[in-house]
Amino acid sequence: MSGRIPRDFIDDLLVRVDIVDLIDSHVPLKKTGNNFVARCPFHVEKTPSFSVNRKKQFFHCFGCGASGNAISFLMDFSHLDFVEAVEDLAGFVGVEVPRESIEYPSTGQKKEDLSSLYMLMEQVAAFYVGQLRSSDEGKKAVEYLKNRGVSGDCAGDFMLGYAPDEWKALTSRFNPKLLLEAGLLVDKEGGQPYDRFRGRLMFPIRDKRARIIGFGGRVLDDSLPKYLNSPETPLFHKGKEVYGLYELLEKNAKPQRILIVEGYMDVIALAQFGIHYAVAALGTAASQAHLDLLFRFSSELVFCFDGDKAGREAAWRAMEPAFSSLKDGRQIRIMLLPQNHDPDSLVREEGVDGFVERVQAAETLSEYFFGHFSNELNLSEMEGRAQLVNKAKPYLDKLPESVFKEMMFARLKELSGWVGLDVLENAATLASKQVSKQHSKANRKQPQDKGRLSSARVAIALLVQNPRLAELVEQRDIDWNGLEFSGADLFKEILQTIVDKNPASQAVLLECYRGHLDEKSIKALALLDLQVPDDKIDTVFCDALDRLLTQARETVWARLLDKSKTEGLDAQEKELLRKMQAAKLFGAK
Ligand code: GTP
Ligand code: MN
Repeated sequence: MSGRIPRDFIDDLLVRVDIVDLIDSHVPLKKTGNNFVARCPFHVEKTPSFSVNRKKQFFHCFGCGASGNAISFLMDFSHLDFVEAVEDLAGFVGVEVPRESIEYPSTGQKKEDLSSLYMLMEQVAAFYVGQLRSSDEGKKAVEYLKNRGVSGDCAGDFMLGYAPDEWKALTSRFNPKLLLEAGLLVDKEGGQPYDRFRGRLMFPIRDKRARIIGFGGRVLDDSLPKYLNSPETPLFHKGKEVYGLYELLEKNAKPQRILIVEGYMDVIALAQFGIHYAVAALGTAASQAHLDLLFRFSSELVFCFDGDKAGREAAWRAMEPAFSSLKDGRQIRIMLLPQNHDPDSLVREEGVDGFVERVQAAETLSEYFFGHFSNELNLSEMEGRAQLVNKAKPYLDKLPESVFKEMMFARLKELSGWVGLDVLENAATLASKQVSKQHSKANRKQPQDKGRLSSARVAIALLVQNPRLAELVEQRDIDWNGLEFSGADLFKEILQTIVDKNPASQAVLLECYRGHLDEKSIKALALLDLQVPDDKIDTVFCDALDRLLTQARETVWARLLDKSKTEGLDAQEKELLRKMQAAKLFGAK
């Protein structure tokens, strides 16, 4: 593992960069009033609703709702993960990304040196391509590809090559130390290291930035093992990469759907037939990391499995990562092929149209999931229906909170006929709902409340947009105990974060909440346009805070009085009431 990027560096970077310059270099912006606008790069539109605010260092599209700081923009626009976006942003500003110094445990090599490994992989792939195209031995591989119906163009797109049947083809040409690190040599104890791939058709595996990170190699006959893959190396992590993603993105950066197939040859055969939206997990089951990676490029994934027993079992195993990755707006479908076919053989037999029809008719996740149980269990018996609940529920519990989740539970209830499920479901979701209730209630109120925002909302939004205001709150030394108002938890949470992290701007504060439960609520607050002139911010904030505190005290006051008349108060409550009475008499802060 490489060292972490220090938090301070990221915060500094966000202060240093100007989001207007950054976005303008990708999407030309026009100035209107305080904002810069453009047609949104994240959805199709005729008139610009994408707006960038220099003061807030934030972008927002009123059309599709995309929003965030400079890092979020790069993640969304260039399909990068967080670390890659930070690296790109650092490049834009012209600084190096420091790493907290953790070294590779196996080699002691630091992250910066990976470039020599990438370069080596590039050279080796080019060597294999040369062998395929122009060596005598390579002719066998060309012949093999021809027999399997792969054209020269297609082989070129995938950079296919041939590893000669020699023990030292690579060692005699490249740096052995680097070859070993790149997983291209086998180093058995007591012997000389030798080439891992010999006499094989070679499939370079590229990451989405076109860098070669590993290889797969297939024999040209029936010998075993049929495939060899690169081992795990500093460049290559099977569980995180898929085959064919770079080639797919070359053809279409935003495909309507992505097909996940099992084999290298399936990806290539489909591409040969013009179906350029397939990728393969690298001989492992698709993981959640795979799915999250693919969902960055398309909102619909179609799993494609062979129709045999192994394929059906693999399909079922895919349910676990599938359920965990299904946020609202994402869709997964399952396609089981007829017996004895894989996508390669099927597209050749049925043609593109037939194959595409099958893709379009693939079962939705819910159909497949409940269909699986209906086949396996006897739902006309109570025992079967009880098993259904026991087996299905753990999967449904994995779904992120969403409309889809509720509908899946409704379907389970319908199939099992078990009313008690309501109780279970409520218990399971109650906790998470309670946490987000207050915050999201504030969000939902937004449209109706246009003219009159609650004091709490104004105060919290101003705080998010101007973290320095936390100082004004600190100065007052407020006793938050017992204060009840909608959004109190969120307010306190943000306040604490500002005190702890001292963010220089809204953009930096938001960075603290990336991936946090409150991220959405806080983004919504950041985007709230309060139309407060700069020189009035402090006054408006203090007024809102005063009103908020008064209301909150009134609420507690009324509740305590009410309770004292009905159930009576406990000692703590009595003390609180006494304090409040005193404050009322002598004037509260
Ligand atoms: P063809 O037989 O050439 O059509 O290959 P395929 O791509 O259709 O492969 P298959 O469906 O047999 O297997 C699916 C995937 O599993 C392959 O693409 C490999 O990634 C992996 N795989 C298959 N056989 C082996 C093997 O012997 N060793 C390893 N490590 N992986 C294999
Ligand atoms: Mn095959």
